Amino acid sequence: MPGTPLAHAGALAGAQPFPSLATDRLVLREFEPDDREAVYRIFSNEAVTAWHNIARVSTLEDARQLVAWRAEQWPSGRGVRWAIALRERPLDAIGSCGFDFQRRRHGAVELSYDLDPGHWDRGFAREALAGAIGCAFAGRLGMAVGRIEALTQPGNRRSTRLLGSLGFRQEGVLRRYRHWHDEAVDLACWSLLRGD
Ligand SMILES: CC(C)(COP(=O)(O)OP(=O)(O)OC[C@H]1O[C@@H](n2cnc3c(N)ncnc32)[C@H](O)[C@@H]1OP(=O)(O)O)[C@@H](O)C(=O)NCCC(=O)NCCS
Repeated sequence: MPGTPLAHAGALAGAQPFPSLATDRLVLREFEPDDREAVYRIFSNEAVTAWHNIARVSTLEDARQLVAWRAEQWPSGRGVRWAIALRERPLDAIGSCGFDFQRRRHGAVELSYDLDPGHWDRGFAREALAGAIGCAFAGRLGMAVGRIEALTQPGNRRSTRLLGSLGFRQEGVLRRYRHWHDEAVDLACWSLLRGD
């Protein structure tokens, strides 16, 4: 299941090639402008946005901007965001995952993810994240990652199960830690260390 580098490692993005991955059933690739319809479908669904820091998108233009922002993460050095697709339909994104590099000087990156509800309950998120985590700890993000963090709302049952199944440990609940959709929310802080 761990991600292996794709033979076509994608176009050169910034100083380093984008770290495209393949797992048993999935590819994790760069975002492309054509992903806007998929992103619109996912982020116009309240089952996703209820638990995500990204607010509900209501137009294709919102989705286009979100795709452009995601595509810019790697070349700008701010993070990495993979579009997740089934191996047999690599152009059709079914979700995304990635790391924010804001705390890179501490050897820490922050994980976040989303999956189209039409593809829930098949282990795709778990498989994609296992690949992304393997890539981070293997040093393929251009830095030595010692800690992966994830922040999720304590009531987000699916996300909580997912993190637990990947070996993350919950460290506590950060009270009213971030403003999501104009509301201060509590966030459970989870971590996975290299060597856990
Ligand atoms: C969080 C989220 C990605 C989880 O999606 P999910 O479909 O529940 O997670 P997975 O893809 O890992 O699927 C897990 C389930 O598939 C089942 N499954 C079926 N086939 C499987 C297979 N071949 N391999 C592994 N698991 C499989 C598992 O049993 C598991 O169910 P369980 O937890 O009851 O045991 C999704 O709910 C989502 O996008 N939520 C909104 C966004 C969000 O909350 N993001 C987090 C904040 S950043």
